[in-house]
Amino acid sequence: MSRRRGLFITLEGPEGAGKSTQARRLAGWLRRRGRKVLLTREPGGTPIGMKLRRILLDKRSGNLDPLVELCLYEAARGELLRRVIRPALAAGKVVVLDRFQDSTWVYQGYAGAVDRKLVERLGTVVLAGCEPDLTLLLDLPVRRGLARVRRPNRFEAKPLRFHETVRRGYLFLSRRFPRRIRRIAADRSLQEVQDAIQREVERFLR
Ligand code: TYD
Repeated sequence: MSRRRGLFITLEGPEGAGKSTQARRLAGWLRRRGRKVLLTREPGGTPIGMKLRRILLDKRSGNLDPLVELCLYEAARGELLRRVIRPALAAGKVVVLDRFQDSTWVYQGYAGAVDRKLVERLGTVVLAGCEPDLTLLLDLPVRRGLARVRRPNRFEAKPLRFHETVRRGYLFLSRRFPRRIRRIAADRSLQEVQDAIQREVERFLR
């Protein structure tokens, strides 16, 4: 396995927190500072990952069996890690990833139907030590986030209480891993959130 030299940053949070926009802005800011950056997202980021994404987010997939759903997310993750993320880290790049294993722990475990210990065990196998260095948790009241969603996917269409549990799950994780996970209040303007993210990343780089 290649030795790791880059920096691995993930963005997490409930629906409509603005992760994708902030991931793009963070990547742009890092590039302007002379860093080589790989920006990608989950599920997706590889041809097979994109096919799995379509299955996972399509409302016509209906009620996927929870264990099958977990395996599909981990399959997409395994592909992305092996083909894209590990090589980028080995080449010294900063990887900015929109959603990762914390999403699975929260959506399939804490708010979902799969035993959390099983989610953790499978995650340990798939990640094989490739943990994020820093996770930015974009947090905001669930109703505020859902109000920003235009065409809801299979998850966004779930009832409010599911999303409340997702938010609680993330806050629980941020207390469990306070060094890795930094909570960023996301119910502010794009610029304010971007500034807060840059401050966290700068602090981390120092
Ligand atoms: P997202 O990229 O936020 O969707 P969009 O492009 O519509 O904003 O996330 C995809 C969805 O997949 C999101 O609703 C959360 C869900 N998800 C899981 O349930 N488990 C996972 O492991 C991941 C990565 C995502």
